[in-house]
Amino acid sequence: MKFIVTKNYEEMSKAGADIIIEQIKSKSSSVLGLATGGTPVGMYKHLVEAYNKGLDFSKIVTFNLDEYVGLKPDNPQSYRYYMDKNLFNNVNINKDNIHIPSGISGNIDKECEEYDESISKMGGIDLQVLGIGRNGHIGFNEPGDTLKVKTHVAKLSQNTIKANSRFFNKIEDVPTSAVTMGLGSIMKSKKILLLASGSSKAQAIAKIAEPIIDLKVPASLLQLHPNVVVILDEGAASMLNLK
Ligand code: F6R
Repeated sequence: MKFIVTKNYEEMSKAGADIIIEQIKSKSSSVLGLATGGTPVGMYKHLVEAYNKGLDFSKIVTFNLDEYVGLKPDNPQSYRYYMDKNLFNNVNINKDNIHIPSGISGNIDKECEEYDESISKMGGIDLQVLGIGRNGHIGFNEPGDTLKVKTHVAKLSQNTIKANSRFFNKIEDVPTSAVTMGLGSIMKSKKILLLASGSSKAQAIAKIAEPIIDLKVPASLLQLHPNVVVILDEGAASMLNLK
């Protein structure tokens, strides 16, 4: 796992975007795994800027990590809406190449199975972008006694519901479950880019730098992946003890 510590959110965002830009330039049909949340917003801005300067997204294929159960794509809190607003509506991506789990499927188990199948059919993910929860979750793979390999419906922890309530009018509006990629698709990605900003992530980041796999910190599993870059700002790196 390679850790890169940048000064602030802006530098973290730029460094993250540069890795994606390089990926797209070296393979125009790259399969990107994408994350939502507060952390990657700045990175998506840089990607839109790169598109405005000529970067071509027309052959790019994307798979998002997750979607809230119960939210329609046109709900401003849905991850589909977030992705359209922050990236997809602003670049020349082919809409047929966008994949986001549906939070309103009538047959959610089938939907999860098909999601994994489509990732495999596309040859797997070339570059997976991740944020990290304060509790160490990736996607919505929450701390627990076991971790799931495949795309599934996850119950959100109280910690996550509280953290995500900042995007909703009130905490009761935060969905309590989400469809999320499992650890299998994430770990099978050829390369992983994890971004973290702010001191609220410092503890989780310190934990994933310890050479211990702890299921209470799902992101610690990333240590078993051969190609992970973690980009932090000073706040997120503040408890990091790199030997
Ligand atoms: C979002 C996702 C989550 C977030 C994490 C951090 O698609 O899968 O794991 O990356 O909850 O969220 P922020 O960036 O809002 O702190």
